[in-house]
Amino acid sequence: MLSSVFKPYSLKKLFEPYTIRNLTLKNRIVMSPMCMYSCYNKDGRVTDWHLTHYTTRAVGQVGLILTEATAVSTEGRIKNEDLGIWDDAHISGLSQLTDWVHANDAKIGIQLAHAGRKSKLEEPIIAPSAIPFSENSRVPGEMSLEKIEDTINAFRQGARRARMAGFDVIEIHAAHGYLIHEFLSPLSNKRTDHFGGTKENRYRFLKKIIEGIREEWNGPLFVRVSANDYDENGNNCNDFVEYAKWMKDQGVDLIDCSSGEVVPSSYHVYPGYQIQYAEQIRKEAKIPTGAVGVITEGVQAAEIVHGERADLVFIGRELLRDPYWPLSAAKQLKVDIEGPRQYRRGWNP
Ligand code: FNR
Repeated sequence: MLSSVFKPYSLKKLFEPYTIRNLTLKNRIVMSPMCMYSCYNKDGRVTDWHLTHYTTRAVGQVGLILTEATAVSTEGRIKNEDLGIWDDAHISGLSQLTDWVHANDAKIGIQLAHAGRKSKLEEPIIAPSAIPFSENSRVPGEMSLEKIEDTINAFRQGARRARMAGFDVIEIHAAHGYLIHEFLSPLSNKRTDHFGGTKENRYRFLKKIIEGIREEWNGPLFVRVSANDYDENGNNCNDFVEYAKWMKDQGVDLIDCSSGEVVPSSYHVYPGYQIQYAEQIRKEAKIPTGAVGVITEGVQAAEIVHGERADLVFIGRELLRDPYWPLSAAKQLKVDIEGPRQYRRGWNP
């Protein structure tokens, strides 16, 4: 009788193609953006490290690789060693990176970022308001309207360069207390002009960045958000359902759901602790989402996509520990996937 109640399920869905806008990914596994701080000449250019590191994950069968936070301006770097896209001189190195990843049958996206008040550079730092991250942090300068316009344009120029370099996806970094998140959160944005105050006003900076990017880019556009500030006076996931609806109306294709880090706060981190945000935003804003955060097991990832809790699964640290994680997950789930031709005797002895 049970067979008439339960529909059969398939653990294969994690490894089935996923189409978003004009792009088809070979599976639903995404490498989460992770800073490598490996531009040793402090010039933001791609180095051998980036080529090796990202291409290895392509060999490991990740469907979509997202680069680390890539600075749209020099002052937008977290550290001097950040990857950059503030100059046309960056395009050739980034093109080599996309070529190498494409040659290994994966897609690659770039995370466009500005660190705002969390920059650790020695130069002056900027933010929507002159409020430091914590008692021990430096006080940022409040951005003038001209500076805001320049920064919006820097994201737009970043998108143009990303297109020229052959990326498949752009992700805007609007999470983790960096500049865009600082505008979104009432905890860090105390402006009295049309970039602060109401929710619509706090969203205006991201809105204009999306508009600017969309003038240069008609490919898939993701936005990474911190869907909970973990502070009763900050944003929570209900706020992000509304932001996500606005983003969807602007042509954003997917919300990558992380959380926290705009102010010092304490919260529990446990396996899959942020999936709830991807699930709520997906369901209530009716937009594709990505789940991230302590997702380490194949069975965990398979459950997320099979249960339609999120569309894509972002893997961070587990891909630092195991660059072949998709192959390992397939083995755990007893799903046959085609690894690289050169390694087939190893995977299917
Ligand atoms: C990160 N994370 C991160 N997030 C982001 O949006 N842009 C970034 O550049 C970075 N950089 C970064 C560096 C390193 C070394 C780590 C470990 C993490 C956060 C990362 O993408 C991910 O959201 C978290 O690590 C949680 O996922 P995991 O690691 O539990 O799978």
